[in-house]
Amino acid sequence: MNPVKVGLLGLGTVGGGTMNVLYRNAREISRRAGREIRVSHAAARDYDAAGIDGLDSVTLSDDAFAVVGDPEVDIIVELIGGYSPARELVLEAIANGKHVVTANKALIALHGNEIFAAARAKGVIVAFEAAVAGGIPIIKAVREGLAANNIEWVAGIINGTGNFILSEMRDKGRDFADVLKEAQALGYAEADPTFDVEGVDAAHKLTILASLAFGIPLQFDKTYTEGIAAIDPQDVRNAEDFGYRIKHLGITRKTDAGVELRVHPTLIPERRLIANVDGVMNAVLVKGDAVGPTLYYGAGAGSLPTASAVAADVIDVARSLSTDPGNRVPHLAFQADALSDIPVLPIDAVETAYYLRMQAEDKPGVVAAVAGILSEAGISIEAIKQQEPAEGQTQVALVMLTHRVVERHMNDAIAKIEALDTIAGSVTRLRVELLDG
Ligand code: HSE
Repeated sequence: MNPVKVGLLGLGTVGGGTMNVLYRNAREISRRAGREIRVSHAAARDYDAAGIDGLDSVTLSDDAFAVVGDPEVDIIVELIGGYSPARELVLEAIANGKHVVTANKALIALHGNEIFAAARAKGVIVAFEAAVAGGIPIIKAVREGLAANNIEWVAGIINGTGNFILSEMRDKGRDFADVLKEAQALGYAEADPTFDVEGVDAAHKLTILASLAFGIPLQFDKTYTEGIAAIDPQDVRNAEDFGYRIKHLGITRKTDAGVELRVHPTLIPERRLIANVDGVMNAVLVKGDAVGPTLYYGAGAGSLPTASAVAADVIDVARSLSTDPGNRVPHLAFQADALSDIPVLPIDAVETAYYLRMQAEDKPGVVAAVAGILSEAGISIEAIKQQEPAEGQTQVALVMLTHRVVERHMNDAIAKIEALDTIAGSVTRLRVELLDG
């Protein structure tokens, strides 16, 4: 089958990231999509060619309308951002019968009603997963995964830049302007960073979430918006004294009187998971009447996380162009004829770190003997703790944390430790996973 051809508008932070993801994961992507996906034509003014993979095989120009008019292109990916000319480009792409993928929340929040009407009339797809919460597939979750629910409310940290600024100021006492500059350098901030700071970007995203949750038209102009610039450090401290954290939240709730749509700094009890979402990470809580509260967490901005959502939309469109409509998404995510025979590892071939606890005689040389066995097996100790013996006891609990090691080496070491005269009974072993990404 011919490749699905993509026309890319914009090669900035997200556009460059999308090229890199489509290029580096091309094989996995075609195993999922059932077809190769190839960026054939791209338009950009400024870009860092050295940081973008796969540009050699792409026709490059600075005329985005030429890409939208290219008869070869099946899918237009709009990553220019802003209202205009993004709106005109997307409408022209639709008029030309092309499917559209966009990360442009401003465009969808303000002009989505018009764009979706045009797409329906033309029978093309407009996909916008990357427009809300960066790499978190929140649109798919609300629109598909929670489709059986009467959604009651949605509350989220949906601006990575703002959350990064608040976290750095609180944890490191850093200066607002200095952190904002770093967020810009890291590619988190909008072209106009006042959109992040004043809550406009979060309001764009909340507008979209409210429409998906409650089935209402997009109504950005009715969203109440307060930013983070006025948060005073003394209020952050006072909130902490009361057991709260201040987070910049977008909240939408359906009430008997209507729908609340509001973005503002908010005190949240510090024990809530969402109160511990820091840095550029986003989190969205969705309360459905059947499922209860559900939480979605991940990077809310940045080149590759946002590209992950853009590329997923491209794959979705490619599947709808390529596969049997009744089985658009393969049962096991990959096409049935593209499943891999990569082996599943037995547990003794798995590598993890360990917590070990043993009962040891309280006399010189015992710890050294245990440490010697671990060292011979190439296992390095991260921490060690020996508890005080209980009154009249000659044995103590010896507890250690190790670095990562393949399980069969740990099994051998544990067998040798258990054979020591100075160790009583068996060694308790728990696996440790840092899950730090
Ligand atoms: N400026 C946005 C943010 C980018 O910081 O969340 C992702 O939409």
